[in-house]
Amino acid sequence: MMNRLIRPTLLGLITLLLPMFLWAEPQPLVFSHVVSPNTPKGKMAEMFKSMIESKMGDRFEIVIYPNSDLMDDDEAVSAIAEGRIHFAAPSLSKFEAYTQKLKVFDLPFLFRDIEAVNRFQKSPTGQSLLTSMDSQGILGLGYLHNGLKQLTADRPFTQPGDLAGLRFRTMNSDVLIKQFELLNAEAVPMAFSEVYSALAEQRIQGQENTWSNIYSKAFYEHQPYMMISNHGVLDYMLITNSDFWKELNEEDRDMFRYALEMALKYGNAVAKAKSANDKIELTSMKSISVFKPSASELATWQTAMQPLWASYEDLIGENIIQAARQASRH
Ligand code: SIN
Repeated sequence: MMNRLIRPTLLGLITLLLPMFLWAEPQPLVFSHVVSPNTPKGKMAEMFKSMIESKMGDRFEIVIYPNSDLMDDDEAVSAIAEGRIHFAAPSLSKFEAYTQKLKVFDLPFLFRDIEAVNRFQKSPTGQSLLTSMDSQGILGLGYLHNGLKQLTADRPFTQPGDLAGLRFRTMNSDVLIKQFELLNAEAVPMAFSEVYSALAEQRIQGQENTWSNIYSKAFYEHQPYMMISNHGVLDYMLITNSDFWKELNEEDRDMFRYALEMALKYGNAVAKAKSANDKIELTSMKSISVFKPSASELATWQTAMQPLWASYEDLIGENIIQAARQASRH
């Protein structure tokens, strides 16, 4: 009697719920970043989206917000920690609220070239930094290159002393702030999205960034003087929320990991090509004057900035700095 009553009700419930399962929308996963789509990070994000959606598009949709359209990087890092967004790839200079160890990437002239950065990132020490914020909700899934930074200004400069008194935009990192203070310049930390207007309105006189960012965000329109300084690195950590990642089932996690590996490989190839191409674009512009220092001229910049290595040894960890130096000795 009971069974006969339950059966039609159960059947009715299934008939009612079935369309809900059939029409379930894919879960939107937000990937927020601050650069143009046509950059190493922008291209990497698009490749990641297309790989995930081609394999699991019925269940996941990667929603990319480029150009700081959703939020700037400082907010993106806390949004990842709190699980409000799913993916981001902020510059390694933007994690100081969560770890001091990544400051190693900000030390001026620590890495000889991008290959040295690559070696360090792949070393056991570099890999261990990916999990250094896990307990705070931020899990690193890999590194992405943009490239080495160059100095630019609205007036000629060839020696460290030439920057005295000028206002330079920096990312929000105290190593970068101190780097300019050592040159008696004023560091002005500011979100990436504000740099162009700050340059145009002459609220700052200079900045440091990669060839790709200077070109894609047209900073050069207000910075006719550049120095091939290669004095620092601007790379990214691709991050996700730790709980989101751990709650994925193993099969999905493997798929995400595979898509990310492929996307990062592609992004790194784009970074290499863009760094070379955008450098050529910028250095061949008639409106731009490029200072290419000799080895001894560069040495004066190194001497001026390098004291930062020793002053950050305790905070970052001597072993981390040594591993980074080792990567440059090859
Ligand atoms: C980026 O490349 O993501 C932006 C870096 C910056 O803030 O200068």
